[in-house]
Amino acid sequence: MYPLLSYKSNKGTNFGINRIIGKKLLTKRILVTGGAGFIGSNFIRYILRKYPSYRIINLDKLTYCGNLENLKDVQNHPNYKFVKGDICNSKIVQRIVKNCDAIINFAASTHVDRSILDSSDFVKTNFYGTFVLLEAARKNKTKLFIQISTDEAYGSIVKGSFDENSALSPNSPYAATKAAADLLVLTFFKTYRCPAIVSRSTNNFGPYQYPEKLMPLFITNSIDNKTLPLYGDGLNVRQWIYVEDNCRAIDLLLHKGKIGEVYNIGVGNEFTNLTLTKFVLQYLNKSTKLIKFVKDRPGHDKRYSIRIDKIKSLGFRPIFSFKEALKDTITWYVQNRLWWERIKKHNREFKSYYNKQYNPANAPKGEGSHESKDIT
Ligand SMILES: NC(=O)c1ccc[n+]([C@@H]2O[C@H](COP(=O)([O-])OP(=O)(O)OC[C@H]3O[C@@H](n4cnc5c(N)ncnc54)[C@H](O)[C@@H]3O)[C@@H](O)[C@H]2O)c1
Repeated sequence: MYPLLSYKSNKGTNFGINRIIGKKLLTKRILVTGGAGFIGSNFIRYILRKYPSYRIINLDKLTYCGNLENLKDVQNHPNYKFVKGDICNSKIVQRIVKNCDAIINFAASTHVDRSILDSSDFVKTNFYGTFVLLEAARKNKTKLFIQISTDEAYGSIVKGSFDENSALSPNSPYAATKAAADLLVLTFFKTYRCPAIVSRSTNNFGPYQYPEKLMPLFITNSIDNKTLPLYGDGLNVRQWIYVEDNCRAIDLLLHKGKIGEVYNIGVGNEFTNLTLTKFVLQYLNKSTKLIKFVKDRPGHDKRYSIRIDKIKSLGFRPIFSFKEALKDTITWYVQNRLWWERIKKHNREFKSYYNKQYNPANAPKGEGSHESKDIT
C-alpha cells in the first residue's frame, strides 16, 4: 500500500538533528496552517509517521476545500490537535503561536480560476493572513517560519528555468498574492531577523486533492466517462511533484534549511497539460474523445519551469518516479470514490463553481467563461 494512505506508527525512526532549531524541536510543537487541505494533510500524516515525538497543531478555517476526512486516520493521534480557525484572526493565532516552536504556513486560497472570478479571499488569506502569522511569530520569537509558496510566483518562461534569484512576475491574482506574501516573509527576516524560509514548489499531485484541480478533476471525470475540459490548445507546460516528495523537501527545510533563503522544490520533469491528460486516459483505458478543448483561461501562463539545484544541494532526492506515482494516484482515486463523490455530487459549492466555470448556460449572466459539458 502507498505509504501516505494511512498512518502507521514508526517509533523506531532515527531522525536527523535539527541544525537550525536545535534538538529541542524534537519534543516541541509545530503549527501547521491549512492542514485540512491537500498538501497540509499529507504533510501532517508524513510528520506524525516519521517523527513520533513531534506535536502538530493544525489550524484550519475549513473553507470549501478544507476537509477533516483527509486526516481521519490520525484524528485521535496523541500528538495531533485540530483547531478550527482563520489565520487572519490575530487573537486565535497569537494564542496558538505562543506554544509553538515552528510555523509552517500552508493555509491559502489556492485555485487560480477562482481567483480570476473573485480574488478577495486570496488577498485576505494569502497576504493578510501571512502577515498575521508573521506578526505572531515575531512577537513570540518563534524559532522557524516556513512559507509554502509556489513556482507560479515567477510567472511564465519560454526557455530556460527560474532560479531562486529570478524576479517575481505573477500573472494571476492567486500568484500575485503568493508572491506578495513571499516578499513580506523575506522582509520580516531582513527587518526583524524573524527566522523564515520560503519554499516554491511546482504543481503537486497525489491523494486528497480537491477535485476542482486539473489532476483529480481529470482522473475522476475520466473514471465517470465525463468530458475533460482542457484549456486552450492544451500545450501549457507544467512540472509535477508527487506530494510525498514535496513533504520530504519541506521536512528537509525544517531540519536543514538556511534561514532567510528561498528554495525551489521540484523534480525536474515537464509535461504539457495535453500529454498529462493522455497519460491519465491511458492508465484508465479511456478514449481521448473525452478531451474537450475549452476557451483558454485569461492570463494563462504558457510554461512554468524552475531550477532545483539549491534544494538538491540540501540533499533532496525524490523517491517516487512520476509514472509510478501517477499510477498510484489514479488507483487511489479509483479506490476512494466515496471521498471525491461526496464533494462532486453533493457539495453545492463544487457544483455551482463547476457550472459557472465550464457551463455558461447554467451560470449567472456574464459569469460563465469556459464552455463545456455540464456535470451531473
Ligand atoms: N497544490 C499545488 O499544486 C501547490 C503547488 C505549489 C504551492 N502550493 C501551496 O501549498 C499550499 C497548500 O496548497 P493545497 O493545494 O494543499 O491547498 P488546498 O486548497 O487543498 O488547502 C488549503 C487549506 O487552507 C485552508 N484555509 C484557507 N483559508 C484559510 C484561512 N483563512 N485560515 C485557515 N485556513 C485556511 C483550507 O480550509 C484548506 O484546508 C498553498 O499555500 C498553496 O499556495 C500548492
